[in-house]
Amino acid sequence: MQNILITGASGFIGSHVVRHFLSKYPDYTLVNLDKLTYAGNLENLRDIDQNEKYHFEKVDICDFDAVQKVIQKYEIDSIIHLAAESHVDRSISNPTEFVLTNVLGTVNLLNAAKDYWKDDLDNHIFYHVSTDEVYGTLGATGLFTEDTPYDPRSPYSASKASSDHFVRAYLHTYGMPVKLSNCSNNYGSHQFPEKLIPLFINNIKNKKSLPVYGDGKYTRDWLWVVDHARAIDDVFHKGKVGETYNIGGFNEWQNMDLIHVLIEQMDAKLGNAPGTSKELITYVKDRPGHDKRYAIDASKIEKELGWRPSVTFEEGLSKTIDWYLANEEWMENVTSGHYRKYYESMYVHR
Ligand code: NAD
Ligand code: DAU
Repeated sequence: MQNILITGASGFIGSHVVRHFLSKYPDYTLVNLDKLTYAGNLENLRDIDQNEKYHFEKVDICDFDAVQKVIQKYEIDSIIHLAAESHVDRSISNPTEFVLTNVLGTVNLLNAAKDYWKDDLDNHIFYHVSTDEVYGTLGATGLFTEDTPYDPRSPYSASKASSDHFVRAYLHTYGMPVKLSNCSNNYGSHQFPEKLIPLFINNIKNKKSLPVYGDGKYTRDWLWVVDHARAIDDVFHKGKVGETYNIGGFNEWQNMDLIHVLIEQMDAKLGNAPGTSKELITYVKDRPGHDKRYAIDASKIEKELGWRPSVTFEEGLSKTIDWYLANEEWMENVTSGHYRKYYESMYVHR
């Protein structure tokens, strides 16, 4: 029996973590604490939101009193912290928002947990879900290991690096039982269509241009989100307190190569002649400070916790495309802003 607070679970990865934990650990009580920013969507968990072991609290992690009340109300044992501003391009236009949520919000959550667990810190877990972007950028070779020095280069990655440092500082200073993981790029269902894969799926479907930043030769390591949720389960249950685990897909792609695979699969599924959607490719101005290459050495989690991705990239991508094509209404609501009305009506009834 556990009462787990999962922050940011109305977002992309958090919703998969809730779904995974609810089905695998039916005795756990899961509390989703989410502010419902543009990226938070109650529809992401509509399939399970009537489950009596699941609870939703619309709270900002920066609001100390409200966070404290939720922790007390549900007698929270452990926290899996995912709530964040997560999009690099938005961090370039509005860095302050990223400091507020990702840095101050994380410190706020640490303080609320520390206050509540103070007499009994050892029997709890504060798990911070972080990103590989804290390590900076790689040249043509090499991999990020858990010992790679931090070198964040965007306001987003700087805010995540800062929050990682605070989490570790709370271990050393106060004995807070923390765990961390740093993961590569996720893809899958329920991802807000500002990120490369859902944006391009939606644009191919609607015959809209595919904006490729710079020369398209940037490299990312892609992981199916369901496999990230499985890894979070392993780190939460089997990972050592105070340790960091890198999580990656063993799956590096240059953006243009990935876009060609996506176009191939999409054209086949849409019944287009092969290669039809290539004409949508449009090279646009590069992202400022664009990190050249991310690649994860995930051998620690593989050796110590026995985790590996469960699907190939082609399989994961195919499942992902199928989900977006079958859930047109989700995409329309998210892109039209109509889903905000849904939130308001849902919220009145709670
Ligand atoms: P997302 O943007 O889809 O979801 C973020 C969620 O956090 C939303 O539901 C949003 O409403 C909520 N939120 C934002 N600010 C909040 C606040 N002040 N108070 C409460 N809730 C708030 O993000 P995601 O892609 O699911 O990422 C989740 C976490 O995983 C983030 O911490 C991110 O840094 C990390 N991560 C993401 C990836 C990726 O590829 N998406 C990879 C590695 C790590
Ligand atoms: O590495 C983990 C990180 O992956 C997470 O921490 C972030 O939350 C997540 O957003 C993601 O960051 P990226 O910046 O790598 O993801 P994004 O989908 O924005 O971009 C992937 C690559 O595609 C990157 O090289 C930029 C490029 N791109 C992106 C968009 C949105 C384009 O060429 N065109 C686009 O329109």
